[in-house]
Amino acid sequence: MVSVLYSTEWLYGVMKSLIFNLTPMDAHALVLRALALADKSALPCAALRMIGWQAFSQSRPVSVGGVYLDHPLMLAAGFVKGHGFASEGEALAAVERGENIMPGWRSMPALVGLVEFGSFTRYPRVGNAGVVMWRDPATQSTQNRVGLKNPGARAAAAFLARNAHHLPRLLGINIAVSPGVDELNQGEREIREALRFFLDLGIVPAWFTLNLSCPNTEDDPGANQTDALARRYCAAAVAEIGGRAPLWVKLSPALAAEQYEALLHAAVETGAQAVIATNTLAQPTPDNPQVSAGMAGGRLHAAAVEAVTHLLRAKARAGYTIDVVACGGILSGEDFARFGTPAGQYWSALIYRGALAAAHIEREYEQLGRLDAPGDRRGRLQLEEADHV
Ligand SMILES: Cc1cc2nc3c(=O)[nH]c(=O)nc-3n(C[C@H](O)[C@H](O)[C@H](O)COP(=O)(O)O)c2cc1C
Repeated sequence: MVSVLYSTEWLYGVMKSLIFNLTPMDAHALVLRALALADKSALPCAALRMIGWQAFSQSRPVSVGGVYLDHPLMLAAGFVKGHGFASEGEALAAVERGENIMPGWRSMPALVGLVEFGSFTRYPRVGNAGVVMWRDPATQSTQNRVGLKNPGARAAAAFLARNAHHLPRLLGINIAVSPGVDELNQGEREIREALRFFLDLGIVPAWFTLNLSCPNTEDDPGANQTDALARRYCAAAVAEIGGRAPLWVKLSPALAAEQYEALLHAAVETGAQAVIATNTLAQPTPDNPQVSAGMAGGRLHAAAVEAVTHLLRAKARAGYTIDVVACGGILSGEDFARFGTPAGQYWSALIYRGALAAAHIEREYEQLGRLDAPGDRRGRLQLEEADHV
């Protein structure tokens, strides 16, 4: 396992200098094209699975948000999410033609294990035009204003159902509230419909995430994070899912402590089983300070740690059992340890540490002495969580 990690780390070190010569958008497009090729057939996926299997050969089980996971780190939403489409008809026609509308759907889980697919909105979105991705190697940060580009929940569900026999055993599905919908009944209806598309076609993920926090859309800079909205939307989602999968809720960074507390109460009281903190942080783009885009990676980390700290304190005060899943600048074992949560999600680490980032981070985390043995994980982390608050 160690030799796979060392050799892939070395290889990625070489590849990174080539990849970083491309613009972030060109590099992303190139990687997605390669993944789409790999998705096509069993052989490359089997090879990727073999590499992943060796890299993640040591099981580090963790029970989080109503799910029993073999490993504590998951690839966050936004990587395997599919192409954008202008209409549902176009997206469904592409699925009907057998096109791969979701590059990486088969190859990424084969290689990295746990993946949260999406975000999917009720209707497709083409996303924002122009330059929408940036990277800052000096701080190991990424920034994006992709704008929730996705094929829409109906086509995404149809695509996954069509390929159900090759889906991973465990996957998460992230549903986002449609930006710009500020009428509560409509928002609620859209969430329920989006969930129903998956469930009706037998796509029951290990967890659903309700993304209340997308800063990258022009019409929804504040996202849907008031207490009232969170309650309505979470309750609607829990009712629609009907106990078939746990609901997790994803929040933004940089909210006030009281707001995190209110949102945590809303999540618990409506039946959600985990809160993911955080999504990206809206910051001016390098090209135009008038336009903002979601900061992630190193420059998000402190704000994400602060958000998680507020949530863990509120959780301890109320005596809740809901889990907090850390997300934001987990680029090393030390970064993950800083959160004191049982599980985490990563995105930017893919860029700076390569596809097997999670295996490296888990190993570093273990070397910090946080774990005596893989089997001790849960007990130790609960203690740490208590210390932390
Ligand atoms: C290009 C890109 C697209 C993203 N799209 C989504 C998305 O559709 N839904 C979502 O919940 N989060 C999305 N995210 C946010 C990530 O899931 C994650 O919360 C964020 O990047 C912080 O993690 P990191 O610091 O490890 O990158 C996206 C992030 C990036 C970089």
